This record gives sequence, C-alpha cells and structure tokens, in this order.
Amino acid sequence: SLIYILNGPNLNLLGKRQPHIYGHETLADVEADCCRLASELGHDIRFHQSNREYEIIDWIHEAREDGAGIVINPAAFTHTSVAILDALNTFEQPVIEVHISNVHKREPFRHHSFVSHRADGVIAGLGTEGYQLAIRRVASLIEVAAK
Ligand code: DQA
Repeated sequence: SLIYILNGPNLNLLGKRQPHIYGHETLADVEADCCRLASELGHDIRFHQSNREYEIIDWIHEAREDGAGIVINPAAFTHTSVAILDALNTFEQPVIEVHISNVHKREPFRHHSFVSHRADGVIAGLGTEGYQLAIRRVASLIEVAAK
C-alpha cells in the first residue's frame, strides 16, 4: 500500500541548514533512502515538502482519500498548527511523527507538539534514520490492520 512522507517548512534546506543540529544529509538523500526501504517492504511512497501550511493540509486530505499511512515531520508547524492537527484528526490510518533533532533537549517552545495529540508514535533525535524507522512502523501498522 501507500505511505505519504510529509515534510514541513525549511526542510528543503536540510544538509545546509544548521548541520550541527540536522546533519549533512539532504532531503533528496532522505527521499532516496525512503524510496529504497519502501520498495523493499513492498510499499509505495509519496514524498513531499512544503513551506506552506495549506499544502501539507491538502496532502493529508489526499492521503485520506488514498487510504494511505502517513509519516510526517511538520517542522516548525509541529509547535503552532492546530490546522494540521485538525487535518490529521480527519484521518484514520497510521500516523508517525518524526523529528530529526531531539526537540525535548532544545528550547522549551519545541517541547509541545500539536501533532502528537494524534500521532500513533513519535520519533525524535534519531537523525534522518527516524524516517526509516517510522516507515517500518507505519508499514507494520497497515499490515496488522489489514488482517
Ligand atoms: C524539527 C524540529 C522542529 O522544532 C524544527 O522547527 C524543525 C525541524 C526536526 O526535524 O528536528 O524545523 O521538526
């Protein structure tokens, strides 16, 4: 089946942006790794990034229509967006939230996540490997639900 991998603002600059926090891998590297793993697991992915909140909301609606699972790194929208939470609350398939950095080790304003009110699981601080782990989890949740 299908897994949407959604990335929020500034993640287009991954690899160039504060590499001491987010590492040297680019988002294209992450996408390639995600594609490889998904095909290994027999799933298709739709990999997207946007700096615009409404695009992320529209992709969540699209994932809902497709009956897909979601891996989402909402980036700064994590801490601000009731609208993304509301979109995820219309959605019934598995959702795993990913943060490359350990948000709990950072500024207090990063400690609260609106998205965590809906996510089935949260991965933070495992670097870009978090995406791989999240894909595995979404894939197994989809398989369990299909039984
Ligand atoms: C992030 C953490 C957020 O607090 C931050 O705004 C980001 C990236 C992460 O992947 O570690 O842009 O979601």
